[in-house]
Amino acid sequence: MAKIIQMRSPGDPSVLEIVQAEIGAPGPGQVRLVQDAIGINAVDGLVRKGLYPMALPAVPGFEAAGVVDAVGQGVTAFAPGDRAAYFFAQGAYATVALVPASALVPLPDDVDVTTAATILAKGLTAWMGLRALYDLNAGDTALVLGASGGVGSLLSRWAKALGGAVIGVAGSLDKLDKVQAGATHALLASDPQAAARIHEIAPAGVDVVYDLIGQATFNLAADVVRDGGVIATIGAASGQPKPSTQALARRGVQIRGGGTPQHVRGPTVAVATGELWAAHRAGLFDDLETARYPFDAIARAHADMDARRMIGLPVLIP
Ligand SMILES: NC(=O)c1ccc[n+]([C@@H]2O[C@H](COP(=O)([O-])OP(=O)(O)OC[C@H]3O[C@@H](n4cnc5c(N)ncnc54)[C@H](OP(=O)(O)O)[C@@H]3O)[C@@H](O)[C@H]2O)c1
Repeated sequence: MAKIIQMRSPGDPSVLEIVQAEIGAPGPGQVRLVQDAIGINAVDGLVRKGLYPMALPAVPGFEAAGVVDAVGQGVTAFAPGDRAAYFFAQGAYATVALVPASALVPLPDDVDVTTAATILAKGLTAWMGLRALYDLNAGDTALVLGASGGVGSLLSRWAKALGGAVIGVAGSLDKLDKVQAGATHALLASDPQAAARIHEIAPAGVDVVYDLIGQATFNLAADVVRDGGVIATIGAASGQPKPSTQALARRGVQIRGGGTPQHVRGPTVAVATGELWAAHRAGLFDDLETARYPFDAIARAHADMDARRMIGLPVLIP
């Protein structure tokens, strides 16, 4: 029997129940994946709280990695024994899952399943920011709002490696050191001098703001982005901002956004994952910790996520 994590109603972490389940054979176009590592992402918290509605009962989670043990009719790209991962298919909180083959990416020999489930979704979201929303070049100055979080910690290190000057902003004081390690400058979101300090670093304003925080810091983003610059609104961990789009448009500031599955799709998936694995091999993310949670400790993982006390990139291990 497999185990799944199911929610029958939205609510606090206690709504996540561990249930035994018979998974069955894969249908046409599906593979059955024995999942050795499952990604935990901010969106999973939104699903649990009912802010990202799903038909209930639901199995949350969108990301996992493991080994294919059966394939359904019409699947030719994968065979039993292949190692694979996915970053956007519903129902990932399970020890075994039926996954559309079209959602899977093959894993290179040197990328282990835990690494894959830890960095695939967050890393491809970082890639979306650095390549699709604003093509970051050496010499650009980037402000990363939420540099202490999962996506932001990968994005800021990657942006720095591309030659950008990175101003990383943490939400919590105890995460400032880690942000400093992955950026050129580090600031606290609640610092009343944050805008003044950023204007000192980049007198004409920053070329791009990668925004993962949203409401709590949007005024800062609007204040420090240069005329003609870009605000890439990737996430809104503190709530949706209400930007004064007319004022920004008058300054030629573009707001760009979207979801990772919209930007990383079709042939772009292989390009983006290839660049992500290359960044991983180059050691860009080596200083980041992994926060491993046993499968049965999913409620604790969500409680840590809610309380913003997660240190490191979270992953669920069956
Ligand atoms: N567009 C997409 O496809 C896509 C993909 C992935 C993620 N996202 C979104 O991106 C956001 C970040 O994801 P993540 O995985 O990096 O989440 P995360 O690990 O929970 O990080 C959240 C970040 O926001 C900061 N933060 C949260 N509330 C804050 C507040 N009130 N004031 C200041 N800072 C605050 C946190 O600071 P501290 O931890 O230092 O307190 C942390 O740096 C989420 O909203 C997520 O839903 C979007």
